[in-house]
Amino acid sequence: MEPEPLTLEKIRLPTMNPFFFLPPETAHKLALWGVKNGLAGRAKKPASLRKKIGGMTFTSPVGLSAGADKEGVALRGWSALGFGFVEAGTVTMHPRDGNPAPRVWRQPSDRSVINWMGLPGGGLQVFLKNLKAFRDRSSDLVVGVSVASPEGSTDDLETLARECAPYADYFTLNASCPNVAHGDDHDPLDEIKAHIKAVCKGANGLPVLLKLGPTRDKDALIRVLDGAMASGCAGFVLTNTVPEGMKDLLGNDLPFTWPQHDGAPVGGYSGPRLLDTTVFMIKTARAHLGADVPLIGVGGIQSALDALRIIEAGANLVQLYTGFIYKGPQLIKDINRALSAAGH
Ligand SMILES: Cc1cc2nc3c(=O)[nH]c(=O)nc-3n(C[C@H](O)[C@H](O)[C@H](O)COP(=O)(O)O)c2cc1C
Repeated sequence: MEPEPLTLEKIRLPTMNPFFFLPPETAHKLALWGVKNGLAGRAKKPASLRKKIGGMTFTSPVGLSAGADKEGVALRGWSALGFGFVEAGTVTMHPRDGNPAPRVWRQPSDRSVINWMGLPGGGLQVFLKNLKAFRDRSSDLVVGVSVASPEGSTDDLETLARECAPYADYFTLNASCPNVAHGDDHDPLDEIKAHIKAVCKGANGLPVLLKLGPTRDKDALIRVLDGAMASGCAGFVLTNTVPEGMKDLLGNDLPFTWPQHDGAPVGGYSGPRLLDTTVFMIKTARAHLGADVPLIGVGGIQSALDALRIIEAGANLVQLYTGFIYKGPQLIKDINRALSAAGH
């Protein structure tokens, strides 16, 4: 029998992605430079996608999730690619090195990433300079600012919000980074409530959202949603990456071994295996909170169908990051087109 001819479809696309010849962080810097300088293409946003959520007008419900543009260097570029909003950051008060390299691992056969970045960045002053420069040129991109205080300082959170508020549209408190130590001698919900109040204090009336980590525990999720709402939270971003301790959420057939540092597993998973958990959390939150609370669904979106699933589960808006790493700007065009065709 003749051997089957080798066709392009049989060669895995990710191995052909030229960025994948570079180490992940180098590829990321190059991509960011390309987006910033308008080299990644342009896409129209269908007018029908325009919608008002939480008092903000979005030109598309598809956003770039936090961590992709940590210092807000390429905001105009993301808008040109078809994103309706960007969650810039996570920004911290002071500059941070983050964790030692290597700290990002790709799993191309799973189209996923594990990251153990640990919130590196230039801190508030660098972030603010970029955000101001972007606003000076004005744009219809909605910019959310993701804030965190790895030290647990409410003063820092208030200052971050106060300084960024004149140039931001909303804030997200990142209370779920699996890559920095959280104090564990008290109820994490008490800390979340205090941190929401601090961001609200500085936010000058802008909406403050809370980004949570993954869970399939309905009662625990509802407890946090209620506590956050009572503290002034306006909506939720669901969800952050999956730490190794919760890898049951990802199924029992992971096609890779979890990265380790000093003999211990590190980092959080993002990619397609997260999608079902995102759907669960959005459905649970929507059923509990009613129709009016803004919900952003993030985690595992790598196709137009995935985005539709999250919207149909009850999210007003979606965000993605890992899907962009594997599929590039075409993914945003596909999702925008599909959401427009579906009347969303
Ligand atoms: C390299 C990397 C860095 C990230 N950094 C942040 C961050 O700084 N703040 C944050 O809230 N989420 C961060 N995330 C999580 C994403 O915003 C998103 O919640 C998660 O990756 C799931 O979505 P996805 O499957 O579309 O990637 C990061 C994710 C990756 C892959």
